[in-house]
Amino acid sequence: MKNRNRAIFPGTFDPITNGHVDLVKRALRIFDQVTIGVLFNVGKASLFAVEERVELIEREFESYGASVVVKSFSGLLADFAKQMDTRVIIRGLRAISDYDYEAQMALMNKSLWEEMETFFLMAREENSYVSSSLAKQISQLGGSVSRLVSPRVEEALRKKYINKVG
Ligand code: PNS
Repeated sequence: MKNRNRAIFPGTFDPITNGHVDLVKRALRIFDQVTIGVLFNVGKASLFAVEERVELIEREFESYGASVVVKSFSGLLADFAKQMDTRVIIRGLRAISDYDYEAQMALMNKSLWEEMETFFLMAREENSYVSSSLAKQISQLGGSVSRLVSPRVEEALRKKYINKVG
């Protein structure tokens, strides 16, 4: 597959939300293959281990065959993108408050690898408030997160918090 038909969708995915899933599906209308790059960050505590995050994402896209690839990475995204020989990064934008951070990352990545381009997809209106941190917070407090994540992820969150308390 020509490398210009591929894109990387990077993130922490702790855990994957309906907003992420929607962005991947929409990116697949433009790109033949999307690699979901799951950041393995030793310095940052995550609720789900990187293997768990990868597995939840793989199960979310199990019917997509080779068009969705899930890989964990550590270190610089620019290095991961070079390794994958993929120049396009996909990121979602929700509210205007996402812009500053996203612009900083896009510019930093471009300075690290000139060929890298960041494509932004606007989150759907119904996903504009959806985030992994909100899903964790609500789930931890016993609320329903069925509008934010898939039933499988909701169950995984529930189990995490039961185990944490019990
Ligand atoms: O889901 P997130 O937490 O918003 O994703 C952030 C992510 C993983 C895209 C970003 O933290 C990242 O690319 N980290 C790798 C380190 C890196 O390349 N930093 C320089 C670019 S600012």
